[in-house]
Amino acid sequence: MLFRDAQAKTIHLKDYHAPDYLIDKTVLRIQLKDDETLVTAALSMRRAQPDRKGGSNELTLDGQELELRKVSIDNTELDPANYGVTADSLIISSVPDVFELETVVATKPQNNTSLEGLYKSSKMYCTQCEAEGFRKITYYLDRPDVMAEFITTIEADKKRYPILLSNGNPVAQGELENGRHWATWHDPFKKPAYLFAMVAGDLACIEDSFTTMSGRDIDLRIYVEDKDVDKCDHAMASLKSAMTWDEEVYGREYDLELFMVVAVDDFNMGAMENKGLNIFNTSCVFAKPETTTDAGFQRVEAVVAHEYFHNWSGNRVTCRDWFQLSLKEGFTVFRDAEFSADMGSPTVKRVEDVNLLRTMQFAEDGGPTAHPVQPASFMEISNFYTLTIYEKGSEIVRMIHALLGAEQFRAGSDLYFERHDGQAVTIEDFVAAMSEVSGREFGQFQNWYRQAGTPRLAITGDYNAADKIYRLDIKQTCPATPECEKKAPFLIPLRMGLLGSEGDLPLFLEGKANGETELVLEITEGEQTIIFEQVYEQPVPSFLRGFSAPVKLDFAYSRDDLVQLMSRDSDGFNRWEACNQLALGVLQELVSAYLAGTELSLDKRLIEAYRGLLTDPTTDKAMVALMLNLPTEAYLSEVAEVIEVEAIHQARQFARRTLGQVLEDEFMAVYQANDAQLKDQPYVASGEQIAMRSLKNTALAYLTQGGSAMALEFASEQFQCADNMTDSSAALAALVNSLAANEGGMAEAALQDFYQRWQDEPLVVNLWFQLQAWCLLPGGLDRVLALLEHEAFDISNPNKVRAVIAAFGMGNAINFHTADGAGYTFLTDQIITLNKLNPQIASRLVTPLTKWRKYPPQRAELMKAQLERLLGEPALSKDVYEIVNKSLA
Ligand code: BES
Ligand code: ZN
Repeated sequence: MLFRDAQAKTIHLKDYHAPDYLIDKTVLRIQLKDDETLVTAALSMRRAQPDRKGGSNELTLDGQELELRKVSIDNTELDPANYGVTADSLIISSVPDVFELETVVATKPQNNTSLEGLYKSSKMYCTQCEAEGFRKITYYLDRPDVMAEFITTIEADKKRYPILLSNGNPVAQGELENGRHWATWHDPFKKPAYLFAMVAGDLACIEDSFTTMSGRDIDLRIYVEDKDVDKCDHAMASLKSAMTWDEEVYGREYDLELFMVVAVDDFNMGAMENKGLNIFNTSCVFAKPETTTDAGFQRVEAVVAHEYFHNWSGNRVTCRDWFQLSLKEGFTVFRDAEFSADMGSPTVKRVEDVNLLRTMQFAEDGGPTAHPVQPASFMEISNFYTLTIYEKGSEIVRMIHALLGAEQFRAGSDLYFERHDGQAVTIEDFVAAMSEVSGREFGQFQNWYRQAGTPRLAITGDYNAADKIYRLDIKQTCPATPECEKKAPFLIPLRMGLLGSEGDLPLFLEGKANGETELVLEITEGEQTIIFEQVYEQPVPSFLRGFSAPVKLDFAYSRDDLVQLMSRDSDGFNRWEACNQLALGVLQELVSAYLAGTELSLDKRLIEAYRGLLTDPTTDKAMVALMLNLPTEAYLSEVAEVIEVEAIHQARQFARRTLGQVLEDEFMAVYQANDAQLKDQPYVASGEQIAMRSLKNTALAYLTQGGSAMALEFASEQFQCADNMTDSSAALAALVNSLAANEGGMAEAALQDFYQRWQDEPLVVNLWFQLQAWCLLPGGLDRVLALLEHEAFDISNPNKVRAVIAAFGMGNAINFHTADGAGYTFLTDQIITLNKLNPQIASRLVTPLTKWRKYPPQRAELMKAQLERLLGEPALSKDVYEIVNKSLA
């Protein structure tokens, strides 16, 4: 047969065809041996439409990096003349309508550094199949609309691999000769291959149980290496909370008798929702106070919940094709965000998520890799696990939730799960269910899924005191993006109120509001005018409460308006937003002053606003801490027309230093009060304590930046005495970023001390790497180069790459973007190395370079030159090629 070559080609949603063949049952035998692994796959297959006349009987199966040993149909081995193997497929020239296909392939997981398919992480075998990794395990119809029942037998050396796991329920096990053993698992729920998983290793397990709402007992197990059993309690508690929450809020019950989580060190992502056998990056399972920060605790809770929630939103109802990825990811991110909100403070969670969206997703949406939430095409699906699919996808579900209200949304979700249980469906199916239960039409709304780019609302307000009328003129636009020049208007739910001198004003809007203090305007046109009546004073409008739509909003607030909103808006999110806008304006003014070479001076209104926050005991501490965080350099860069790295950095540092000095007494008092209060209680990762630590450590950072000698003593004392990683790493970061602490050798001593203490805890060493990669003092690249040479660094471990290389490229602009372009060359060198080892990780590292067009010409040219260098690299992976190619287009 003819051999065809694998090539990088673009796949289009419009070319979707239902599969010609289906697989009803997949029986796998996986024999793990030191030199090679043998996979025998017996597939019960049939033609999808047997009565269709004509067409060919050719069958093409996906497969990569496999060595085919045998292929037979209905127990008859095929003659090589009747099949062909290419770099990414097995093509059989003619198959019957119904048949049993058996293949035997050999693979070498011990050499698999891509961490996709079957691979080894330290001493265990594990798998990662989403999106298209199963084809590296055996020849298959590796697409999510082909769903089969799986029966998996794993065979391995018993001493080194006593634990053998796969999806579903254990059905049998036994011993073999030569110290080998086997175990068989059966997953009764039909699933696509991307949800397959297996694990073999020497693992300890912590066990618990959960009784479902219908009274079934579920066995819960977390498998980890022996040394880590003491780090699993928080993940287990989070799992149980998530199970309860999904029953209460969505009426969803777990469906197997067993739910397993396995923690592995080497993992490209955070975690994976394989049916009944979730595989997690250790960083998203382990949590204990001495080694894990508060943020780490919260991440574990969120990720455990997210993967658990996929059991319904993703597994029971899955995606028809990968263009529908946001169907499961956007919905599940929305579900986990609501869960986290319910477990802690909803406003804090919302602020964190909106910050991420506006900083990172908006940047993506405004750059060369912008794409719709339902993309129309892609080259490499791994590149589409993006902030747009996840975060913007979740925002769209949130808007549906807001438009329908909680009750109808639940009815829509019930209908969706019931109607499509066991199916592979589309985003349109999800929206149709929501539409049916509410009677609402979602035609225009679906532009959110199909058009990329961040819409902009420009609003002007005009108060007519004589007629008591407040008029809003609203204009919506959306910039061109690579896939679409001219956009149709979006349906934008604009939640808003009007603030008067005594608080929220009653709203009178014909047909919309009759005295309520808040309403949701549905903006549907390019230009719209809204007229409020019976407005007895000049109001300050409060727009986009709770961030009701993922848009940019322009309204000419005065700083005094913002100060008012900040203290008096009835919406907590908007109080934070007012503070954020106030600080943003002040910082932007400083950036301009820096560029103009004029002297920098900090607006008193920001100082007084911060003083108010620090001295007002009534404001929630978590909110105070959030408000005291100045907009990040990344956010300042996102909203800038041209990114002036130096000016942004100097302006923000000036503001931090000045605030630290001017408000030294207030920061000191806040630091001491919270520190004292916390010392009286044992560490718990509770909302209340997290807020106090975050406030205290924010104060410490300001004080050390302000140059207070006393603060350095506090930092040093906190570093030495802390009983938890939040305080100890915050103190270390304060020292590492303080010029004085560096000059005095204090920073270096603390770093060494920390490493000595934690060198046997890889996740803590990663924190240590990261905070050095983030150090803003001059000389960043040299420090990072030294870290790459450190004994604990390992480029084949994604967590280490993220802690050093990604942290530097994405979180240390002033050192990464030096004028000589050395940072760009460095990053490109690393991408070239990783391109061969792990294309998915390599491709993610390109991100900072993709934004080259937003930098001033000299830097832009240097960045572009590195992208061009990448393009010239021989054997560039599809992953890296796609991103580089789009960035240069
Ligand atoms: N399904 C993904 C994990 C995944 C994505 C594996 C792409 C392989 C390729 C999983 O559900 C997920 O989304 N995980 C997130 C964390 C989550 C809390 C958003 C992750 O891994 O970062
Ligand atoms: Zn997910």
